[in-house]
Amino acid sequence: MDLSSTEDRSGKRAATQIPAAPAAAGSSPLAAAAGAAARTSSHEVTTPAPQVNVEGLRSWYGEQQAVRGVDLRFAANAVTAIIGPSGCGKSTLLRCINRMHEEIPGARAEGRVTLDGLDVYAKESDVVAVRRAIGMVFQKPNPFPTMSIFDNVAAGLKLTGTRGVDLRDRVEQALRGAGLWEEVKDRLGRQGIGLSGGQQQRLCIARAIAVEPRVVLMDEPCSALDPIATLRIEELIGELRANYTIVIVTHNMQQAARVADTTAFMLAGELIEHTATEQLFTNPADERTEQYVTGKFG
Ligand SMILES: Nc1ncnc2c1ncn2[C@@H]1O[C@H](COP(=O)(O)OP(=O)(O)OP(=O)(O)O)[C@@H](O)[C@H]1O
Ligand SMILES: [Mg+2]
Repeated sequence: MDLSSTEDRSGKRAATQIPAAPAAAGSSPLAAAAGAAARTSSHEVTTPAPQVNVEGLRSWYGEQQAVRGVDLRFAANAVTAIIGPSGCGKSTLLRCINRMHEEIPGARAEGRVTLDGLDVYAKESDVVAVRRAIGMVFQKPNPFPTMSIFDNVAAGLKLTGTRGVDLRDRVEQALRGAGLWEEVKDRLGRQGIGLSGGQQQRLCIARAIAVEPRVVLMDEPCSALDPIATLRIEELIGELRANYTIVIVTHNMQQAARVADTTAFMLAGELIEHTATEQLFTNPADERTEQYVTGKFG
């Protein structure tokens, strides 16, 4: 992978082990769900994805500091959840990973973010290549309103270049990857906003993966969805980790417990702890994590 070019992103790395969850199991539903996530954490890696390292990350909006020196390692082909109270900097951290933060007027960041050792913020890094390698899915499904289902998925490809790409094939693969193909294959020409909320979110996931990113960042992807659509997205996240490194911000601790191999807890712009999901929910190292996961604040 070469972040200095929009054309080449073919770097490969060896498959990485998912951190093993500790054996201890609590009796709460969260603990049970965490156990379930831990049990499914050994999965088949089909496309090796990169490890993402965040080192000494600090970020500001004007004078206001939102992230205060975070070090965080996101394992390859794993799902990492970020939890923490509103305003603690989860979305800001996510946006710093793919350099979306700098698009906000007055916003800036310091520190290092690397993809398999490649510096995302290096002078020679092409920001378009960075965002192509690190895709993002937002809280509210946001299909392009005037575009068809097909064009929504093809939109990112058209922006980043379609030379040598079979557009129909790529759109179909992305829709299959997002678990939406069977539901929309006969109406690709209809508007994306005509789909249900859960389908729209899967359409946005298809749009994100159509450009073949290596990392997918998801900022509360299920918060606008009903429980059935949420379950479908959670299943999909489990499948996507065979091909991508996934970071998901969620306010739903049961969701973190269900989908994430490891979970990071943030508070007031700082990382409090990051560990195997089951351990974070059953036996956290820090008292503040314990208070948060047991609902004492937040
Ligand atoms: N565009 C912006 N301009 C100015 N300040 C911002 C902006 N976006 C976020 N902030 C501030 O940065 C801090 C962190 O916000 P951020 O959105 O990262 O929190 P969060 O953990 O994602 O919260 P939530 O769970 O509510 O989504 C907050 O104090 C917030 O008010
Ligand atoms: Mg947020």
